[in-house]
Amino acid sequence: MDQRGEIVVERPPDEAVAGPRYRRLETCEIEVPNPAGLIIFGASGDLTRRKLIPSLFRLSRNGMLPERFFILGTSRVSMTTEQFRAAMEEAVQAALPGAFDRQAWDAFAGHLYYSTFDYGDPLAYTAGLGAILPRLESRHQTGGNRIFYLAIPPTVFEDVIHNLGAAGLSREDRGCSHVVIEKPFGHDLASARRLNRLVHSFYKEDQIFRIDHYLAKETVQNILMFRFANSIFEPLWNRRYIDHVQISAAESIGIEHRAGYYEEAGVVRDMFQNHVFQLLCLTALEPPAEFTADRVQDEKAKVLRSLRRFPRETLAEHVVLGQYSEGAVDGRDVPAYRREEGVAAGSTTPTYAAMRVFIDTWRWQDVPFYLRSGKRLAGRKTEISVHFKEVPHALFPDTVTGPIEPNTIVLKIQPDEGMSLTFQTKQPGTKVCLEPVPMTYSYPRGVLLDAYEWVLLDCILGDHMLFTREDSVELAWSALTPVLESAGQAPLASYAAGSQGPSEATRLIGRDGRAWRPL
Ligand code: BG6
Repeated sequence: MDQRGEIVVERPPDEAVAGPRYRRLETCEIEVPNPAGLIIFGASGDLTRRKLIPSLFRLSRNGMLPERFFILGTSRVSMTTEQFRAAMEEAVQAALPGAFDRQAWDAFAGHLYYSTFDYGDPLAYTAGLGAILPRLESRHQTGGNRIFYLAIPPTVFEDVIHNLGAAGLSREDRGCSHVVIEKPFGHDLASARRLNRLVHSFYKEDQIFRIDHYLAKETVQNILMFRFANSIFEPLWNRRYIDHVQISAAESIGIEHRAGYYEEAGVVRDMFQNHVFQLLCLTALEPPAEFTADRVQDEKAKVLRSLRRFPRETLAEHVVLGQYSEGAVDGRDVPAYRREEGVAAGSTTPTYAAMRVFIDTWRWQDVPFYLRSGKRLAGRKTEISVHFKEVPHALFPDTVTGPIEPNTIVLKIQPDEGMSLTFQTKQPGTKVCLEPVPMTYSYPRGVLLDAYEWVLLDCILGDHMLFTREDSVELAWSALTPVLESAGQAPLASYAAGSQGPSEATRLIGRDGRAWRPL
């Protein structure tokens, strides 16, 4: 690492070398993609500014991008390439304060281009992109590899995919043509199916990259390693030893100027259909036959297929939907959701959900998985906690004060990345006195690559491990259909901003004699 805490690696050698090339980052070897052109739709948007360009810049600065590479930004906003480069420089300085490097930026900016674009106009794809791409490909010697990244609102996905396909840009005659689709993938089961059908009319599944950025987080990737690279946990990872599992994705932030999107989405679409269900799959899946994208996807699909259907008549016993009222977060007063800018005064959009789900398999029969996620909660915390059963026989009934706390394994996804195992020890002294103690591993600060850097590398490399597959997307929508259909019908539970969530959620888990871990 250099003084700014950035990872420094050697510059890449000649790219004419055949076969995959790797860069060494600390103890890891990471594959450098082949020459390619990345075309970003939605280049004037928030995601491009906050995540995509800063991540690409860091990758380039660390020698993780091929030398022969270009980025073409497109959007409806009228701008020249010079203006785009200036706007992106500002964005990178804002996103990576203190880590901006003039020389590295100048080298990177020489690969950036911009073209104003009308997504709905077929000519923009045939005559427009049809002329610009060959020019850039010849200038940067990228061959024919193209990655189309759709960082656009879902309302224009269909237009863009259709026009790309109709213009022949999905064909792989001269190199790969990948299409990268940001979430949300559909709005419900029917629209996700429609979108899958449309994409498949031009692209094969191995050309399609559906993003769930949670899958690219180091700590989420670690779940499978933790489970399957250690022999001591897997024998216990089942209904014989596990009492229940909790998965929490709590946020203290609100909707951050995204009312237009959030009012339509709500927490179930925004967090459960993708991130929370993916965490559930990784926690519950069977060992895949091999560690390849397709075999892992097969196992995830099996988990989703085994989810017990939510009973519509007694849904309230399994699901709580809530919305925040005014309160205080980090000592600052914040308004109720309905008072946020752009939110309807009578909005029934849920900002919190808690669910109790069961996976009907031999491994998990009758083990409840309690899931919760919400905005404006007491803290930001994403974690998976596995709660083991109580000891079968209380050997020390007279000597301990209160019941013996069962063992817990906590996989901490963020912000304090790591894991801990809590077990009982005897406190020093003459009496038998037990105390739960944690054995903790904390990830070193500053992970090698952040989620978007992984996503961008892998969609260029064509590695699907960190993306979601067609079947899982549809199975997740299907499982959540009763919940989505109930929204707006049953009264929403209310919780104060900055709290632990609605009391109804405390009762949901409390009825089973259990309690949420504090946020
Ligand atoms: C996004 C959601 O997918 O994930 C946001 O749209 C949410 O509403 C975000 O805030 C959470 O991601 P992270 O990485 O900050 O936990």
